[in-house]
Amino acid sequence: MKKIAIISGSIRKNRQSHKIALFFDRYITEMQLAQSEIIDLKELNFPIVEERLALTENPTQNQLLFSAKIFEADAVIIVSPEYNGSYPAALKNAIDMLGKEWLHKPVGIVTVSSGVFGGVNVNALLQILFTRLKALVVTASFPVPNVHQAFDEQGIPVDKESIYKRAESFLSEVLWFTEKFNS
Ligand SMILES: Cc1cc2nc3c(=O)[nH]c(=O)nc-3n(C[C@H](O)[C@H](O)[C@H](O)COP(=O)(O)O)c2cc1C
Repeated sequence: MKKIAIISGSIRKNRQSHKIALFFDRYITEMQLAQSEIIDLKELNFPIVEERLALTENPTQNQLLFSAKIFEADAVIIVSPEYNGSYPAALKNAIDMLGKEWLHKPVGIVTVSSGVFGGVNVNALLQILFTRLKALVVTASFPVPNVHQAFDEQGIPVDKESIYKRAESFLSEVLWFTEKFNS
């Protein structure tokens, strides 16, 4: 079974986008689509990056673990909230820490906002960022508007039918890239 790593990109108290990471982890597991694991930036608690990990003299265990998990993953799903039309500093910090780990890695983008646009601005910026890193940006994304109302605390969608349909369509693209670009 292929491995999908889900990066939960908000470290905020009362964060909402973590619910979406929980949703995808559960969905992928229940549907037996892949082996799924959440990489929670809040738990990993990285220092502010001064230098790429490969050039860091005394990396933390969590930094090394993060590098290994991204390297081993057959695809990565990024769950990012939109902050001021962009990505949160903690997520950019984690992305910049790595280099070759992103090379030719299929990356699916999930964006989350409390408003009606579902993180359309951060989606565009993440596409540019991952293209710059020579990752393979999956040709479908999954915007989540009105996150407070759309999912409960465990990541169960209120409108299950519609969210499952959209998730199926998004994940089929993620899995296509996963199969195509991993032997
Ligand atoms: C610093 C900050 C900036 C934000 N800027 C935006 C924004 O530009 N557009 C937007 O739709 N929501 C914005 N939000 C609201 C987030 O969409 C909201 O907090 C949502 O729950 C996702 O973030 P979370 O996972 O940290 O909860 C902002 C929230 C914070 C904390």
